[in-house]
Amino acid sequence: MSLFRKFSVQSNILFLNGFVPLVALSLDLYNGQLGANPPEAIIRTTGVLSIIFLVLTLFVTPLVRGLKLNWALPHRRNLGLWSFYYACIHLIAYIAFDKSGKLDDVIADIVKRPFILVGFMGFLLMIPLAATSNTFSLKKLGIKKWNLLHKATYLISIAAAIHFTMIVKSDYFYPTLFSVAIAILMLWRVRFQIAKRRNLHLKH
Ligand code: HEM
Repeated sequence: MSLFRKFSVQSNILFLNGFVPLVALSLDLYNGQLGANPPEAIIRTTGVLSIIFLVLTLFVTPLVRGLKLNWALPHRRNLGLWSFYYACIHLIAYIAFDKSGKLDDVIADIVKRPFILVGFMGFLLMIPLAATSNTFSLKKLGIKKWNLLHKATYLISIAAAIHFTMIVKSDYFYPTLFSVAIAILMLWRVRFQIAKRRNLHLKH
């Protein structure tokens, strides 16, 4: 892989887009600018960042297949990883601040509060995807198995949308926005598969 390809302008822009919110959040925390409840601000911000990167990950396939913007494909992996990194910070912040690091309390919360259970299931599903996001795993599993495994992204997105909607008590604008975006991106895939099968059928 050439140095140019490795550090392409797009990869650098994506890296900055992933990294800058984390730096901004850390600076705000350091400067005491996270409002009256900094732990809540950290948990909420990282949750929103995770779902934003998740939606961006889902957006890549329609860009490539629908609009033939092939340059977007190599970035899908990093977008998914940024979603995972923010979900990790989200979970760590929740365990550290909300539950004072007590794992017993975390388990009790998972059992007691359905929105925590849904978020946790989404997070668990993210782990095998993040672990197999490298080229080595792709080669080892083979493209068919790898693609099948990575279809879990849809379940993660559904879990994230439900988790977000369950948390909100009055202003449903953002959970609805993300849920609609996720639904449209999934419906697009269903339509694409139907059209693909129909074309194959016509050819034979
Ligand atoms: C690991 C399991 C998870 C736990 C324990 C967890 C826990 C939480 C908690 C405690 C909140 C704050 C609720 C409140 O302020 O009342 C929250 C909010 C949120 N979480 Fe999670 N979460 C998890 C996974 C995820 C995942 C995987 C995503 C996205 C991919 C996500 C996205 C969000 C969003 C968008 C919010 C709402 C932020 C807002 O209120 O503006 N969470 N989560």
